[in-house]
Amino acid sequence: MMTELAPAPAPATDDVDRPRIFSGIQPSGVVHLGNDLGAVRNYVKLQWEFEAIYCIVDYHALTSTHDPALLRARTREMAASLLALGLDPDRCTLFVQSHRPEHTELAWLFNTVTPVSWLERTPTYKEKRQTQPDDVNHGLLAYPVLQAADIAIYKAGRVPVGKDQAAHLELSREIVRTFNARYGETFPEPQAVYTEAPTVLGTDGVRKMSKSVGNTIDVLGDPALIRKQVMSMVTDTKRILRTDPGRPEVCNVCQLHRFFGPDWETIQDGERTARTGCVDTKKLLADRIVEHYAVARERYIELLAHPDEVDGVLEAGADRLRPSAEATMDEVRHKMGLR
Ligand code: TYM
Repeated sequence: MMTELAPAPAPATDDVDRPRIFSGIQPSGVVHLGNDLGAVRNYVKLQWEFEAIYCIVDYHALTSTHDPALLRARTREMAASLLALGLDPDRCTLFVQSHRPEHTELAWLFNTVTPVSWLERTPTYKEKRQTQPDDVNHGLLAYPVLQAADIAIYKAGRVPVGKDQAAHLELSREIVRTFNARYGETFPEPQAVYTEAPTVLGTDGVRKMSKSVGNTIDVLGDPALIRKQVMSMVTDTKRILRTDPGRPEVCNVCQLHRFFGPDWETIQDGERTARTGCVDTKKLLADRIVEHYAVARERYIELLAHPDEVDGVLEAGADRLRPSAEATMDEVRHKMGLR
């Protein structure tokens, strides 16, 4: 059954009383377990407590993706994924970054208060210089400035993200602090809000789960793919024989069980005492992940079959944000001497 997704003209909520939060996610094609456990679960939960604004950051994606058709498709896929995972367009505002051009205008103005040295020392920029050496574009350097503008334009005070965004958030705070000092108190300093899984390791068990590394578990993917990805996971590398006791505290599979059932301590104990083998533990995790996301996967497929509905939600979201983005820009232009 298709859930009603007709775009609401205005949020049927008590937004005036609720503090505002903002977060952004890149249209990377797939939502992986790291995105969900590290951020999206919080997006869903917090839409009930806050005035929540969630943005698919296509401008940011352009720093690495240069295929227009792919970017368009992935943007819609990301929107469908977030709606399938529980974002409710009546409880939150979901939109695409490039549909609100004020983001880039504010980013330009923030560029003028941001020392280049801050940007050059950003970990993601240093990493990208290594991973895409032939495409070190200016957008990569300015990436955190646009991120600061995304948050500041709605004067959001809290930002649900994974731990990998900590450096960007710190930079956002520094940028608004500098702006406030130069032009007068205008923006709150945004604080990160983390889940219980702020860093989810990938299937290699070493690096952060990330599409660019290729170590993901694609939660809305085909069950066969999810099983293959989980079965490829690296467990406790010191456990060689089935009879060796395992160390659940360093085993990524055991750690992930925490989020997929109340019996994770029993599962960890089974590993510790060699009652269960790594393969059994992985099979169980794969079953649970497939089951946990089954309904969302179905909704995702349905939503992609109704692209107009997804696009309608995104359009309504961008329209809904217009007054607040324009009000901030008016204030900022005035304070900076542009009007
Ligand atoms: P992105 O698209 O890389 O990731 C989206 C969200 O998922 C979280 N995440 C993880 N959390 C835990 N473990 C992992 N392995 C993992 N991988 C991803 C990220 O921390 C993030 O919360 N720069 C941002 C997008 C952005 C943004 C913003 C975020 C643009 N503007 C303003 C907040 C506020 C990014 O690339 O996220």
